[in-house]
Amino acid sequence: MEKILIVGPASQTLGVKIAKELGINYINTEFKKFADGENYLRINLENEDIIKGKEIIIVQSTGPSSSDNQNARIMELLMMIDAVKRMGAGKIIVVVPYLAYARQDKIFRPGESQFANILLKLINSLGIDEFYVVDIHAPKVLEELDCKAVNIDSMSELAKYIKFLGAKDIVVVSPDKGAVERSKAFAKHFGENVPVDFFEKKRDVKTGEITMSGKLSLKGKDVVIADDIIATGGTMATAIKLSKESGARKVYAVATHALLLQSAKYRILDAGADEIIGTDTIDNEAAKVSLAGLIAQYLK
Ligand code: R5P
Repeated sequence: MEKILIVGPASQTLGVKIAKELGINYINTEFKKFADGENYLRINLENEDIIKGKEIIIVQSTGPSSSDNQNARIMELLMMIDAVKRMGAGKIIVVVPYLAYARQDKIFRPGESQFANILLKLINSLGIDEFYVVDIHAPKVLEELDCKAVNIDSMSELAKYIKFLGAKDIVVVSPDKGAVERSKAFAKHFGENVPVDFFEKKRDVKTGEITMSGKLSLKGKDVVIADDIIATGGTMATAIKLSKESGARKVYAVATHALLLQSAKYRILDAGADEIIGTDTIDNEAAKVSLAGLIAQYLK
């Protein structure tokens, strides 16, 4: 079946790169916001027949950016899926490099909605054939989908870049005990015996305030602090500060999805990071590592 890639408004760079990796045709979208705030999206084509019977790959991240927020990105995604379905796509493959709301996968306080699950149920209800996401916060929510669902692991690509920067004598530090297993897997990309350590993080579920503690043996080490998301930068900045207090020589602040909201960049650099490294799941200046080749391998 011939493949065509639809480049979503939030993944213009990554979408085109994936299409080029696959050597397939791609189509962009026309999008805007009406005066009342509603989103508008159309696949930029004149003849709807070109979608009929084809394998359609939709690439749309759903992170907030300067051009729109995550709610708009989700609406655009749903509109793209609906449009290609209506036009008779033979197979619909959805790639959401960063899935918004993924951190709302549990009930933390009475009265909440477990919205990560609801979002996936919504996508599922449109009838898709395959779903790909990168380093989703809690992979369990993918069980909401009836179709093939793949959580792509970006660690190999991030590690390649950090090695290219010349990091040596590395310790991988997890900013949270819960993420230690992920950090251990990440450390393996730097060598069999690369040490992993962690700080203890607590977040007040009402205020969102973070407290972190710990003193590690990091004297003269190059420290890689790895997280799945940098949002406000609070977690990362606190871990950097503690790493510096523990003697770290260099600190690399690494996240698959570097949203860098509010004053995150300032907080992270001010805390002592040498570099902020993210991937192009989020199209911003921290996207130093492209996942186009990796994602394309799954779509061949
Ligand atoms: C939380 O569990 C995540 O893994 C990240 O640590 C968190 O989302 C980062 O948020 P912020 O940058 O606002 O501290």
